[in-house]
Amino acid sequence: MHWLLYLLSCVGTIHAAVTWNAEPFNPPSFPLAVRSPYLSAWLPQGAGAALNDVWPTFWTGQTLGWAGFVKVDNNAYSFLGTPNVPNAAFSKAVQKSSKFTATQTTFVLSAGPVDLTITFLSPVEATDLLKQSTPFAYMAVSASSTDGAAHRVQVYSDISAEWVSGNNGLAANWTTSTGSVITHQVQLVNQAVLSEVNDHTQYGSAFYSTLSTSGVTWQSGEDISVRAQFINNGRLPNTRDTNFRAIDDAWPVFAISHDLGNVRAATTPVVTSVGHIRDPALRYIVAGGGTQLRSSYFLSRFSRPADLISEFLNDFPEALDRSNALDAKVNSDASRISSDYAAIVALSVRQAIAATEITISRNSNGSFNVNDIIIFMKEISSNGNINTVDVIFPTWPLLLYLNPQLGKFLLEGLFRYQATGQYPNKYSIHDLGASYPNALGHNDGRDERMPVEESGNMIIMSLSYVQRTNDQSQIRQYSALLDQWAQFLIEDSLIPENQISTDDFAGPLANQTNLAIKGIVGIKAMSEIASLLGDQAKSNNYSAIAADYVTQWRGLARSTRGPHLTLSYNDADSWGLTYNLFGDKLLGLNLFPQDVYTTRESSPHTLLSAIDVFLETAWYKTVARPFGVPLDTRHTYTKTDWEIWTASIATDTSVRDLLISSVRKYASSGLASQPFGDWYETTNGAPQGFRARPVVGGHLALLVL
Ligand SMILES: *[C@@H]1O[C@H](CO)[C@@H](O)[C@H](O)[C@H]1NC(C)=O
Ligand SMILES: *[C@@H]1O[C@H](CO)[C@@H](O)[C@H](O)[C@H]1NC(C)=O
Ligand SMILES: *[C@@H]1O[C@H](CO)[C@@H](O)[C@H](O)[C@H]1NC(C)=O
Ligand SMILES: *[C@@H]1O[C@H](CO)[C@@H](O)[C@H](O)[C@H]1NC(C)=O
Repeated sequence: MHWLLYLLSCVGTIHAAVTWNAEPFNPPSFPLAVRSPYLSAWLPQGAGAALNDVWPTFWTGQTLGWAGFVKVDNNAYSFLGTPNVPNAAFSKAVQKSSKFTATQTTFVLSAGPVDLTITFLSPVEATDLLKQSTPFAYMAVSASSTDGAAHRVQVYSDISAEWVSGNNGLAANWTTSTGSVITHQVQLVNQAVLSEVNDHTQYGSAFYSTLSTSGVTWQSGEDISVRAQFINNGRLPNTRDTNFRAIDDAWPVFAISHDLGNVRAATTPVVTSVGHIRDPALRYIVAGGGTQLRSSYFLSRFSRPADLISEFLNDFPEALDRSNALDAKVNSDASRISSDYAAIVALSVRQAIAATEITISRNSNGSFNVNDIIIFMKEISSNGNINTVDVIFPTWPLLLYLNPQLGKFLLEGLFRYQATGQYPNKYSIHDLGASYPNALGHNDGRDERMPVEESGNMIIMSLSYVQRTNDQSQIRQYSALLDQWAQFLIEDSLIPENQISTDDFAGPLANQTNLAIKGIVGIKAMSEIASLLGDQAKSNNYSAIAADYVTQWRGLARSTRGPHLTLSYNDADSWGLTYNLFGDKLLGLNLFPQDVYTTRESSPHTLLSAIDVFLETAWYKTVARPFGVPLDTRHTYTKTDWEIWTASIATDTSVRDLLISSVRKYASSGLASQPFGDWYETTNGAPQGFRARPVVGGHLALLVL
């Protein structure tokens, strides 16, 4: 009976439809081409879907037409998407394996006697701003015979015009250029600059390209006829459809085919690239209420898309080497914690970095100013806010791990705007604008109000950057703002008034224990900054205030009923994840005493001091649900980033591993189909509203302590 129950529970809930070997596990959604808020193509999974079981989708879930066929001898097989081709016969290739690493998702499908290996590579080039700013990704396909005999192989793929709009009823037009590179370019006829529909950008162009090697053919035209052309002939006629029309009107597709010849051993991959370029990238508020148009960094070197695409395609072998090296480094670093942890981290890297765009401004004579770099981040799915401070903050570990400079450039836009004096509040702003890509600030001061949260976050991140780089330029330039926020924290962080924290969906609350930690760490961090800036008196003052607040906080924050901290002061039965202690550890301040973190069963204590030992780590074990520890006592849901931050400060590895394995259990449960959602239910693993957000960069927390 035990065995039967065990089997039923496995079959019923886990991997019901995953018939292939999934390494390291089958995620909620596979990243395919994920490099920017607008180049974001995924393969949704739920209980499991092969590469040719479903269409790729934008992060929102809207279909992105991306179809693939292979011909082996005279038989055609689909390997990507679910195209319906009425006048052509084909079968489905059979998926044998899937694998994701930090930068790559790889599938192997068998098409009769040939195996196809399809690698989707979205490079993460954190130390090369030009490459990181390039919103393009690769699909590489290679074939090998599995029966020892040689087989004739041709490979086909296309994209639809769904890549250029969130409204498929809009008119598109397109061109195909040939030469050393074959490039299909498609765009909306009515370009709506700086606007979005359903989170898709509504201007700029999508590009589908390949190097023009021998055996390459191409075509634009109606989906069913172009696909039938390949299925029936194994090649394309190199013809253009010039009947421009709506995206969903006899669905125009943009196809490329490669003839691999007779294949026995694994072929070198044929590579296509998909990308999206728009200019300007964003609009940004400057002093005096004016705005500035900003452009993607790569435009400083490549003003013509053709040059960028040629460089990108020719760089594939080196990009693959760099990506393999990064994947190996991430995997080896994270595997020191556990294989569960390595898997979570690998799934998080592309998603997090792809929420950002690296921009530059122009000089007055129109040339690009490559020294004026601001990175923008789209909050994604919770809303379209730009550079939300409490979204950058959870993402911070990824930025520190990959390249702390990226963090500086993300903070720069927030600092610079607030230094213009147009933002009226004395605490830090929440975000740079309500809807990407218009970073218009909040001159009315009516942004989402998270005063302690954001003020603490800004100071903590600023010091963290200096600690990793020794570059003091930003804290010197914006020292007045940092001090202003610190003074606000001195007023409002020990007894935080009724307000929301980053977990705004949980509602406002006064006296939040975890929020107070954030504020007090912020005060101490400012003391360190003041010391770096040579103001020892201020440093000593803030340091003394922080120490005094910690002492007072100990009295306020502990529960009188159990060995744990409260969610809010004076509510003895409440508790929550006190993930803000991560800031104390990250900065090496050791402001909060160690007994907050640990279980000290064997220590000698009087009754009074025993109550003072909060046993925080041990407490979590007692309140864990099947899918982890709830965020706090108000609800049973939790956040993956805060589970992992709590794991990073846990002093007991069994608690650390419990939190990590809970996140992995949720991510591999087969219950979700959206890009890694950070908010889920601990009772049953059900995903909540968020998806594709950059905060999963916080999963790297254990790699930066
Ligand atoms: C396509 O539309 C764009 C934007 O309206 C326009 O600039 C371009 O000339 C058009 N291209 C073709 C080939 O009609
Ligand atoms: C444009 O202005 C920048 C900055 O003032 C200067 O460095 C650059 O040489 C100028 N370029 C031209 C073509 O005048
Ligand atoms: C917050 O906690 C302080 C200290 O215990 C208390 O005086 C105050 O009434 C609390 N505020 C609220 C709104 O509960
Ligand atoms: C310490 O800083 C606080 C907050 O800015 C200020 O009110 C107080 O006067 C300072 N104390 C000293 C001794 O400078």
